[in-house]
Amino acid sequence: MATDFHIATAPPHAAPPAWATEVLACPACHSPLSRHEWSLRCARCGTAGRWEAGIARFGVQDQDPSIAWYEAAGGTCFQDRAQIPYTMSSLDTPVYHSYLQRNQPGSPRDIVVDLGAGDGRNTLPWLAWGYERVVAVDAVVASLARLRTHLLHEHPDWLERVLLVHADVRRLPLAPASVALAVAIETLYYLNEDYALGLGECRRILREDGRLLTAERCWEGALLIHLLYGGVPALCQLADSRDVWDGPADRRVRSRCFTEEEVRGELSRASFEVLETKGVSVLSVVLGYLRGAGCLNADDEKRQPQVRQCLQMLADRGALRKAHVILARPARGGA
Ligand SMILES: C[S@@+](CC[C@H](N)C(=O)[O-])C[C@H]1O[C@@H](n2cnc3c(N)ncnc32)[C@H](O)[C@@H]1O
Ligand SMILES: [Zn+2]
Repeated sequence: MATDFHIATAPPHAAPPAWATEVLACPACHSPLSRHEWSLRCARCGTAGRWEAGIARFGVQDQDPSIAWYEAAGGTCFQDRAQIPYTMSSLDTPVYHSYLQRNQPGSPRDIVVDLGAGDGRNTLPWLAWGYERVVAVDAVVASLARLRTHLLHEHPDWLERVLLVHADVRRLPLAPASVALAVAIETLYYLNEDYALGLGECRRILREDGRLLTAERCWEGALLIHLLYGGVPALCQLADSRDVWDGPADRRVRSRCFTEEEVRGELSRASFEVLETKGVSVLSVVLGYLRGAGCLNADDEKRQPQVRQCLQMLADRGALRKAHVILARPARGGA
């Protein structure tokens, strides 16, 4: 876990990027917001949010079990984990970045939103590629603060191009039909029964020519995770359901998984047309497990580049998935 999280390291009210109010909207009525000092106001509803320590903050239900679980963990630390050989993050991150690269919107002014951005492993590439209006949304402020601290230290000049938003993806404070690409990597499945609400919000914020790139947990990959980390009883439990349980025995979090057909069905019901379904190989789960069990050696570490190539190939051609990665667009004539 990163130890450099100090929300106080940011000036308490560092100004929002100049373009923030073009993108932000009231999470209740979706009217534009204006900034008065540090409050973000809707002409109809009054104060809808506030600007605090470089983050646009909106009301988040921290009683939600998934959000509470991430809060208790101090947020995500995927950027750190991605530096450690053979962690799932280090193996999956380059694969996810290849999907981002292939789906770059045409103009650097196009708005890209990273939903459930965590500490920003899938936010940073957009800034590195020169995109000028990148929005990172997460329900856990510690993760966004960690991303901000990283930017302050490493790339302070990028801060004008990123808007950090503390909000729930079920109630996005973003303008309708404004976004060219919404990215939701391993996020929406934490909504469980509210999954369709999250997809509905993605649909609402997308331009008619926009795209959604979403990574959703595959049922078969989840079965393997349950077997490896919970044994045969956990395998049997998931065989009859789609409820995935993660985390140590005394602090578990429930999320959802899908067959490819199921996730395509959800997208279609939310007025999306699926353009492409690929994935992330389940081998990263197995390799992460073997690493944790001390079964990988220094020689294996040297072979990590080859293993990465193999995982990249499987992302395109493999069928045994940890996650389905789906590219979709608003359905023609849809809601
Ligand atoms: C598995 S992490 C993925 C983080 C990031 N997308 C990545 O790939 O590095 C899931 C993220 O979803 C966020 N999250 C969970 N429920 C959420 C909600 N209702 N609204 C917004 N973010 C949420 C968590 O805080 C966490 O950062
Ligand atoms: Zn309003």
